[in-house]
Amino acid sequence: MPEPASVRMPPGPRLPRWAQTLGFVFDPVRFIEACRRRYGDVVTFGTLFDSRFVMVFDPEVVKQVFRGSPERLRAGEANALLGPVVGERSVLLLDGREHLRQRRLLLPSFHGERMRAYEAVMREAADRAIDRWPVGEPFALLSSMQQLTLDVIARAVFGVEEGPRQDELKRRVRAMIDPVANRWGVLLLALSGGRIGSAAGERFQERRGAVDDLIYDEIVRRRAAPDLDRREDVLSMLLLARDEDGEAMTDGELRDELVTLLVAGHETTATALAWAFELLLRHPDSLRRLAAELDDGGDEYLSAVIKETLRARPVIPGVGRVVREEPFELAGYVLPPGTEINPSIAAIHRRADRYPQPQAFRPERFLGEDAPDTYTWLPFGGGTRRCLGASFATFEMGVVIRQVLARTRLRPAGSRPEKGVRKGITFVPQHGTRVVQPDPPAPAGEKTRAGGAAALA
Ligand code: HEM
Repeated sequence: MPEPASVRMPPGPRLPRWAQTLGFVFDPVRFIEACRRRYGDVVTFGTLFDSRFVMVFDPEVVKQVFRGSPERLRAGEANALLGPVVGERSVLLLDGREHLRQRRLLLPSFHGERMRAYEAVMREAADRAIDRWPVGEPFALLSSMQQLTLDVIARAVFGVEEGPRQDELKRRVRAMIDPVANRWGVLLLALSGGRIGSAAGERFQERRGAVDDLIYDEIVRRRAAPDLDRREDVLSMLLLARDEDGEAMTDGELRDELVTLLVAGHETTATALAWAFELLLRHPDSLRRLAAELDDGGDEYLSAVIKETLRARPVIPGVGRVVREEPFELAGYVLPPGTEINPSIAAIHRRADRYPQPQAFRPERFLGEDAPDTYTWLPFGGGTRRCLGASFATFEMGVVIRQVLARTRLRPAGSRPEKGVRKGITFVPQHGTRVVQPDPPAPAGEKTRAGGAAALA
């Protein structure tokens, strides 16, 4: 179809699409940085998976994207890849009015102040993880963190009772996402719509069905619970929530939101925690300063460590918005409907003009008055689609880091820092942050509540 005369695409590499695909797959950082130097802060790319999309590397331009009308810039459409797992009525996949409705129903459960209610749950989950770690043998923190964060989100979503039902649900959630959370899995699943007749597609459907059975069952039981209106878990709150027209969520909507929270809420946070330890353990000065601050009962440096971790190793390297209805004007260009715009979180976090010596891990950047703004530090995306669990995730990271430093003394298992690799839609440490715990951990309990004493030993 001929392009309307008004269209004006940003410049970009003239390489064939297959060659650009190789650039993104094998060395995305080098490829993207080379294009940014050559073509500027708004660049058009084309790969075998998307014939034309625009990446944005400038915080000012990202601001225009995040502030753009959600009807015309659609994040749900850009997230379609996740459909087979989270479901079509997930807040991640919807756009416009429907998105706003789900988001409003979910928001109260993740309000900043409510996070405090989960502190004990988070600390106990950290204690259980620490108590399982081997002594004197290398192990990967990432998988332990995945269990920990799944434990936390499952209890926040379904309530604090432990037990075989919740354990079974956690097992089924991991069984569903493990096979698709590798480099190609998400893509293959999306291309097939999760419905293909292949053995892998059928296995996925079976596993998804196993998760759904338990969730629908839990919805029925919870609706009948005599203490429903006094419970504080997300499921109970969602069962009672009403939209502007006084309507409750349907069971199908509830299923999709619960799976969304379980999936979006644990893999990401676990990865961020694995990166935090990978970076801290290789930067003894930062570790020392943090442990000393925690011993004194402070948390300013802890917050800076969390922010710098998410800057230097953003778990999700970029977000997307698809242009709809009319052409969208951006930075002097005119993008036709159908174009996906991708604010590049990772590339913005690498900007030397905003973060001097961007390769260095330096939490101090976040201590001063001139700390980076919303469009320069954007690990949680932005605008009306900003991550719903951002406070939950950073709060959880703080609780877990504090508890690990208070009880253990970890060492990196190898001398080389771990590189980042793509796994599904996340960016993870290549070997899952391999560490050694030379001595048994200090016992869990009152004394270890605040300090970072063990890490200093
Ligand atoms: C360090 C951990 C996390 C990171 C890095 C992260 C990152 C993100 C990003 C980049 C987005 C897309 C934002 C956009 O398009 O502008 C997002 C959306 C979302 N996240 Fe997170 N997330 C994390 C933890 C969580 C947690 C703990 C939860 C739930 C408890 C959660 C629930 C969601 C939901 C529901 C959305 C969709 C929001 C919408 O479309 O309106 N995330 N997250």
